[in-house]
Amino acid sequence: MTELASKSSGGDLPLSPAGSVGSLIDLSQLEAEAGSRLDPAIAAYVRSGAGDSADANARAWERLRLQPFVLHDVTRVSTATSVLNRFTSSPILVAPTAMHRLVCPEGERATARAAAAAGTVYVVSMAATRSIEDIASATPDGLHWMQAYVRRDRGVTRASLERAAAAGCQAIVVTVDSPGIPDFQARPGRTLNDGLPLPNLAPSDPHPDVLEIAADYATDLSFDELSEIRSWTGLPLVVKGILRGSDAARCVEAGADAIAVSNHGGRQIPGCLPTAVALPEVVQAVNGRADVYVDGGIRSGSDVLKALSLGATAVMVGRPIVWGLAIDGEAGARAVLEELRRQLQRTMALCGVVDARAVPRDLVRQL
Ligand SMILES: Cc1cc2nc3c(=O)[nH]c(=O)nc-3n(C[C@H](O)[C@H](O)[C@H](O)COP(=O)(O)O)c2cc1C
Repeated sequence: MTELASKSSGGDLPLSPAGSVGSLIDLSQLEAEAGSRLDPAIAAYVRSGAGDSADANARAWERLRLQPFVLHDVTRVSTATSVLNRFTSSPILVAPTAMHRLVCPEGERATARAAAAAGTVYVVSMAATRSIEDIASATPDGLHWMQAYVRRDRGVTRASLERAAAAGCQAIVVTVDSPGIPDFQARPGRTLNDGLPLPNLAPSDPHPDVLEIAADYATDLSFDELSEIRSWTGLPLVVKGILRGSDAARCVEAGADAIAVSNHGGRQIPGCLPTAVALPEVVQAVNGRADVYVDGGIRSGSDVLKALSLGATAVMVGRPIVWGLAIDGEAGARAVLEELRRQLQRTMALCGVVDARAVPRDLVRQL
């Protein structure tokens, strides 16, 4: 996969038919290729979903169809955008996923370098296996946001987030879809992060096992607490795990700077609403007062364009990045990001769209 990684540009690219067609890779093949290289238990952890909710996310993007505009000048097509007022080369962000050293020795350092090379944001999971200071020093110019689950003892979470702010993170992402419930059931007697550190927790953390930590997530977090959490660092706050317009509106009113429409990659609730279906009502409720991101089953540039047409500011991608890391470390994760951006640019051109910040709302139709 190394040869697929190409030099990143700022996102404003002349459309090159040779480059855009010749390099297309099928991201749906990544899972099989990565899975064959990983310990089956680790592959199962990454792949896992609740019932068919992970598949339903992907199917919901498929059911949306693009209705192109023709006879537009698409000589230059820009995938560049901004999230939380920061420029990125594309609206494709790296979602927080735990424990990258399970799949690649460099772990989150590799992910950070891949995201920086692609000119986009890396949301670092609280359960990363490299410290936030290590990640920040590997990519001093990188865009890093720190994700956290709020713990029962708020002081533990506050200390982690203050540390992230001191390390130079530009935003905080609080995940609210997992009250006391981990997103994976390990086989009895096994710990997932066996032998791997979780250095973004306090050294004195009473729960070094990632599944025990999940059992320690707060079960009483409220909208009212969001403004206090934001005040701990003063950094912009993204609330991740929203599927209802009314919840999104309450988060914005409580001070959220961005809403991430997410069902945790379909890993939590069996029978969960796909994020593509939830997105329009969240966009409508937020009504331009905050950025809106969406993740879950985004596997192609077409999916990204559909999300933008439904009003998302940007998308986040989870499993494909982990599969890319498993196949070829930093180069693999970067190839996934670059490929998604190339696909987005090509699909924009074919749909008569030249600016990722101004995608027409009537570009998508439901089958
Ligand atoms: C292996 C794995 C670990 C994850 N760990 C976290 C995490 O630590 N924090 C979090 O907020 N979300 C976590 N997620 C959810 C992702 O942030 C994201 O919502 C989801 O992966 C998006 O769906 P996709 O994988 O279909 O792209 C994880 C997802 C996976 C697959």
